[in-house]
Amino acid sequence: MSPKVSIRNVRKSFGTKAARRTVLHDVSLEIGEHQVVCLIGASGSGKSTLLRCINMLEPVDDGEIWLHGPDGAIDLAEPGLDPDPIRRRIGMVFQSYNLFPHMSVLRNITLAPTKVLGKSAPEAHATAMELLGRLGLADKAAAYPDQLSGGQQQRVAIVRALAMQPELMLLDEVTAALDPVLVGEVLNVIRDMRNDGMTMVLATHEMGFAREIADLVCFLKDGVILEAAPPAQLFSEPRHAETRDFLARVIASGRL
Ligand SMILES: Nc1ncnc2c1ncn2[C@@H]1O[C@H](COP(=O)(O)OP(=O)(O)O)[C@@H](O)[C@H]1O
Ligand SMILES: [Mg+2]
Repeated sequence: MSPKVSIRNVRKSFGTKAARRTVLHDVSLEIGEHQVVCLIGASGSGKSTLLRCINMLEPVDDGEIWLHGPDGAIDLAEPGLDPDPIRRRIGMVFQSYNLFPHMSVLRNITLAPTKVLGKSAPEAHATAMELLGRLGLADKAAAYPDQLSGGQQQRVAIVRALAMQPELMLLDEVTAALDPVLVGEVLNVIRDMRNDGMTMVLATHEMGFAREIADLVCFLKDGVILEAAPPAQLFSEPRHAETRDFLARVIASGRL
């Protein structure tokens, strides 16, 4: 397995010197190319912060985050590194779609490829239509975000990220805001992305889905990866009492 991201001893804290809170303690994680890694854990355990550190939306206090690519590896934790070329290579989709409300679906998708990647309008348009077609949204190209269901908006947000042809996709609870009936259509898209070989890191509360799709599941507790294992092991034979307690609570709430 060739590595895509190598996270080594990352520490991240928030707050002022007087009231500093460490939210990631010595996190290490190896994400292989074409692998799907799911981050699970209670709210506040640090899942979003870890994703945001990988995308350089948050500077880390200590440690290394190596992004491996065709031209070698770069440490994203290096102070002073320009985040723009890195973010071009990494797609991120959030729980709250974050589409531009005043732009059509098509414009939402073609904006960054034309402005950032310098693609021609016809080329960006063709890619967008191809992706929309694949995701069953071809008839929504001219629509505005508020004319779409939550599930459709989230799929557009995923198309928008895919249109940048990222090497890595970070998905932060992308189904958390959706009605249960709409969750499935977004999960189908993620399943397809996996089959296409996209390397992905997902923070998710969908345990059944994590079990099905993940190569590696990481259980976070208070900013520590307490346990990382293939889903068959983590869900069936968790090694830590805390993991067992978390899964028991998830099962009690009907999510597994
Ligand atoms: N910008 C921030 N400033 C201060 N604290 C933050 C900030 N972002 C996250 N936190 C804190 O970091 C911890 C981890 O949050 P988060 O990564 O969002 O967890 P999760 O995604 O697992 O719910 C929480 O205690 C949260 O309050
Ligand atoms: Mg979160």
